[in-house]
Amino acid sequence: MSSGNGIDIVSDGFNEIVEVLPPQEMLVQLDGINVAAPMVRFSKLPYRHLVSLYNTHITYTPMILAQEFSRSAIGRQSDFTTSMWERGVFDVPERQFSPKSPPPEAPSPANLHFPDESKAMLNSPKPLAENPTCMKDGIDLNLGCPQKWAYAEKIGSYLLREPNTVRELIRSARDRTGWNTPISIKIRLDTELKRTEQLVKTAIQAGASFITVHGRTRHQPSTHTVDLDGIRFARECAREEVPVIANGDAWSHTESEAIRRKTGVRGVMSGRGLLANPALFAGYDRTPIHAVTNFVHLSTKYGVLPFPLFHRHLGFMLEERFASRAERSYFLSDLVSYAGVIDWLEEKGVMLDSCSDDHLWSQERIVDPASKVGLV
Ligand SMILES: Cc1cc2nc3c(=O)[nH]c(=O)nc-3n(C[C@H](O)[C@H](O)[C@H](O)COP(=O)(O)O)c2cc1C
Repeated sequence: MSSGNGIDIVSDGFNEIVEVLPPQEMLVQLDGINVAAPMVRFSKLPYRHLVSLYNTHITYTPMILAQEFSRSAIGRQSDFTTSMWERGVFDVPERQFSPKSPPPEAPSPANLHFPDESKAMLNSPKPLAENPTCMKDGIDLNLGCPQKWAYAEKIGSYLLREPNTVRELIRSARDRTGWNTPISIKIRLDTELKRTEQLVKTAIQAGASFITVHGRTRHQPSTHTVDLDGIRFARECAREEVPVIANGDAWSHTESEAIRRKTGVRGVMSGRGLLANPALFAGYDRTPIHAVTNFVHLSTKYGVLPFPLFHRHLGFMLEERFASRAERSYFLSDLVSYAGVIDWLEEKGVMLDSCSDDHLWSQERIVDPASKVGLV
């Protein structure tokens, strides 16, 4: 029986054997894969674990500068704390292949996300593959960061027009980590789609395992409408040789399914939508209260989020729930400690002590968290 993505359970008749599926195989073999976007500062362990409870199957770390990662233990810890508990067993339908389109040949879920001075990391004396503290299910190369400093450093979106460098990066990543480590890329569309086509084809030829396409160009702000036709075009360029994930403006479950349908991709990635509502992919219209309690439990148990980040996350999650501007402003400006936030939540009737957190540490991911947590 196949009951999971991320982890596949196969019965041998006597015992259940748990098998971890690499992200690209989850994307190829299973339907409805959802992905949490890499977000600098935000996509850290408690948040990744939280979204995995709500139908998010692949999660990314924030972008990590390879030099920081390879040189500094503090740098590694601050952006890259992982836990076996963030992986889950999901209930996801297997893809039905038609005789006309048979399964393609085989070309965590926490995906480690590097911008592309990856050469520095890859040439470092302590390569990733040999680093025992490193739990990862793949390495993603950031080819989309539009910020000026990144462009000036010739990383991120600068590389969108450097297919030869991208080829070299993917190949050297493959050489250093071996063929078992998925190497993927996350790109933005180019204003000239021919260049997107060239980049996609070059990356596949070099051995990329899958490709995420953010449907905006490097010049377009996040308020700009996402170009679904452009994502579809990039997906067609990949010709099913590797799976493609669509990214941009998935703010609800309905929207994410529409994006999947219109672009024909295997996975849908959300960034800001999931920040505002970590239960988005589970079909909730706004952050359910149990997601808030789960996040508080995860943050306090893991103990890795500095207060400002914990506070900011809750601010995003509660945005739709503040009763007034004054309440919002009080929450954001006047609360300055974990204890203060927890007291405030309890005053508002969010009972943190009364609900068990056992479900957080179960490998089986909750399909309907409300039934287990008792809060809606
Ligand atoms: C706060 C923040 C941090 C981000 N950090 C990264 C990053 O580290 N790497 C990256 O490739 N994209 C990063 N992005 C871009 C997102 O991954 C995503 O491509 C973008 O937000 C569009 O998706 P959305 O419309 O669902 O938000 C970031 C976006 C936000 C809002």
